[in-house]
Amino acid sequence: MGMFKNKTKTCKAQTVPRHIAIIMDGNGRWATKRGLPRTAGHAAGSETFRRIATYCRAIGVEYLTVYAFSTENWKRSAEEVGAIMQLFEKYLHEAIDTMANDHIRLKILGDMSRISPELRALIAKTDEISTHYDGFQANICINYGGRDEIVHAAKAFAARCASGECSPDELTEDMFSDLLYTAGLPDPELIIRPSGEVRVSNFLLWQSAYSEYYFTDVLWPDFDEKELDRAISAFNRRDRRFGGVKK
Ligand code: FPP
Repeated sequence: MGMFKNKTKTCKAQTVPRHIAIIMDGNGRWATKRGLPRTAGHAAGSETFRRIATYCRAIGVEYLTVYAFSTENWKRSAEEVGAIMQLFEKYLHEAIDTMANDHIRLKILGDMSRISPELRALIAKTDEISTHYDGFQANICINYGGRDEIVHAAKAFAARCASGECSPDELTEDMFSDLLYTAGLPDPELIIRPSGEVRVSNFLLWQSAYSEYYFTDVLWPDFDEKELDRAISAFNRRDRRFGGVKK
């Protein structure tokens, strides 16, 4: 139970998920509807991320993981990709200045090989600052793909086997989890996708084995605290059995 319970005294007590993941979708449509360039939608979306991360921390969520840029998003125009990368840089610069005050841990998850050296340097800095804290953690997935992550983990395990460090039959689910970008994180209990799309889109494929999904038509820049409350309430109404039978 988190602070959410206290905020809803008149309602039945709610369980706040430890780990919430969100596919931040609908930025482009939000901007187009207003006659704005798509990049304005991403700028608004990054403000929504800030607001929702603050709220998650306040209600007692421990981990928030957002899908910000997929391994497939490079197919977009150079202008749009450049604008999104600039937003990441801006966000990380601001985070470096405020993380110490807020005691927030920030992690970037994904394949960093295509990420610019400037952005990687900022990521190294936020990683370093994060080691000093153990509270709320925000994870931003950049150049992330669920299949890519699994292949990356399989290669890492194969390399260990090739070096004689371990043998294939020793592999367990826990060992494999520790080779993923999300090593050490609990699996997300709740995954939210706004914007009306009802797809997984290569997000947290391994980690979502028992996650509850919540879909809403609201576009990401319009997503707010009330929407998150709705998602958490829906999560509380679910009957999670993990393959067992109802008691
Ligand atoms: C999906 O909406 C959104 C993206 C591919 C980019 C998300 C990036 C941000 C929110 C900005 C940076 C984030 C941080 C955390 C600083 P879409 O463009 O696919 O929307 P559409 O389906 O309406 O076209």
